[in-house]
Amino acid sequence: MALLTRVESVTSKYVLYQQICDQLQALLGDEQDFIANAANTSALLFQLIPDINWAGFYTAEGSELVLGPFQGRPACARIPFGKGVCGTSASQRKTIVVPDVNRFPGHIACDAASQSEIVVPLLNWGKLLGVLDIDSASMSRFDDDDRDGVESIVAVFLASQATNEPPDFSEDGAEV
Ligand code: SME
Repeated sequence: MALLTRVESVTSKYVLYQQICDQLQALLGDEQDFIANAANTSALLFQLIPDINWAGFYTAEGSELVLGPFQGRPACARIPFGKGVCGTSASQRKTIVVPDVNRFPGHIACDAASQSEIVVPLLNWGKLLGVLDIDSASMSRFDDDDRDGVESIVAVFLASQATNEPPDFSEDGAEV
């Protein structure tokens, strides 16, 4: 990619994700309910991120992910940790960007149109709450700038959670 094109791409993505983060913060306000905020987050992302066909949440329950609020076609309800892109992100506790889902071993095809995908784990003070999954019908839709952007979106979402408190480091667990 020519340097100028690359600079324009980075800048426009930075501006887009900055705007989405600002809008998300305003939309969530003081609300702390996970389901309400996940529903509004997926609706906002589906509306504002170009060229995607699915955006939504899976919640961590035991050793599997359970489908949460989303926008897009119906999806599989349960994904064991370690399976598919979502389960791999959950078990490795890291963001996974897949340029071509057909080349990802064990990819779970909920919508045959999906060609690329990004999954970001929801880590709240070390506790895995679930994952945010975004799919696109375009190949190589997500790059490192999208990774930074979607991780920023997840940070805004997590900041809204009632459980977003520092761990209690006192020896007996008493209030300090
Ligand atoms: N493709 C995902 C499954 C979830 S859907 O795409 C909504 C995966 O492989 O984990």
